Amino acid sequence: MRAAAPIDQAVAVGNDVHWIGAFDPDLRSFDIILRTANGTSYNAYVVRGSEGVAVIDTVKANFSAGFFRRLESVADYDEISTIVLNHLEPDHSGALPELLRRATRATLHVSHQARPMLKGLFDPEEFADRIVSVGTGDVVGLGDRQLEFFNTPYLHWPDTQCTWLASEGMLFSGDFLGCHYCDERLFNDAVGDFRFSFEYYYAHIMRPFRAYVREALELIEPLPIRTIAPAHGPILRDDPQDYVRRYRALSKSGLHNTTAKTLIVFYISAYGATRRMAEAVAAGAEFASGEVGAAGEVRVSLYDIEGSEPQPFVDLIEEADALMFGSPTINGDAVKPVWDLLSSLTMVDVKGKLGAAFGSYGWSGEAVPMIEDRLRRLKLRVPVPGVKARLTPTADEFAACHELGRQTALHLLGRATPRVIDMSALV
Ligand code: FEO
Repeated sequence: MRAAAPIDQAVAVGNDVHWIGAFDPDLRSFDIILRTANGTSYNAYVVRGSEGVAVIDTVKANFSAGFFRRLESVADYDEISTIVLNHLEPDHSGALPELLRRATRATLHVSHQARPMLKGLFDPEEFADRIVSVGTGDVVGLGDRQLEFFNTPYLHWPDTQCTWLASEGMLFSGDFLGCHYCDERLFNDAVGDFRFSFEYYYAHIMRPFRAYVREALELIEPLPIRTIAPAHGPILRDDPQDYVRRYRALSKSGLHNTTAKTLIVFYISAYGATRRMAEAVAAGAEFASGEVGAAGEVRVSLYDIEGSEPQPFVDLIEEADALMFGSPTINGDAVKPVWDLLSSLTMVDVKGKLGAAFGSYGWSGEAVPMIEDRLRRLKLRVPVPGVKARLTPTADEFAACHELGRQTALHLLGRATPRVIDMSALV
């Protein structure tokens, strides 16, 4: 017999801890980009202490009615002393303004980064004396138990934090360690196999912030966690450390040699001209590595985009220090496989990496500046102007490709000659 959460009743998830969230089984995409094959849940919780009640997170606005009915099944509004918002995105803050109006004694606890964002949800003046911002190590008491806060920013917004209930060994982790998986049986040992959802969620939500994932893991790994109560998906009460270990593994660098700089040249070629330009670029980058010698190594790899789906390239891009893209211009544009790969850069952290572009063309050659523009908008640095060549590249154009690779590699190694900007050229 399938045990599901009773309608409009809170569900006990620990000693005087209840789930009061909402199920959204019909959702098929989240934030437009995430697929949600069986929907999602918006998890919210109530923690009762001897001298107060805390509500941790709320739900998406259109699920507010059920949230309040579940809340009312375990607490009176006058008992609520604390409201914690681990994250302000609307799927968790939708019912917050109304909760603040109903629970008139409650103080709202958010991260320092969240506080200035509150004005996007309500007029902060309305609750000005009831808002407290907190950071790692701050606590709020509920009498015989207390909540402790951990500042864990960029998981996946600047405001995100985790809340720790030591008496229960329970971590309210927000989006962190969650997933879009809707099952009213609620607990990881009661629902089906949701590994695909857990890892898909990591790849699309957390992966671009993996440095912050690792920082957050440093904070929570020492905790004697018995339950992870995330803001989406199953509550992780069976072997919660297994999920922490999975995040540790997923956020780990895949490189074994971490001293060499990594430069990847991606290209696609219709008649072989852009391919030969790519080979010249790669040779130039390797030449720079030889020039610098023991002072630095650049590991250069060359990939024909036609030879793979974008996903394996995303893994390479995540680890690379420099990315160079070669595309022909067809109908005034770079070709679709290049744009497909460039669109996947949003899945990983590329900010600050080096970028460059090159390619052959027939009669216009827009691909190179278009790629450079895209790279800059993704916050890559593009220190060396790209190279384009009409039809079959000349010896001078191959030499320019070689120099593009060489200069990009020298930038990677911190050996590039500073560019002199002719101010008159900017007028
Ligand atoms: Fe579940 Fe980032 O909101």
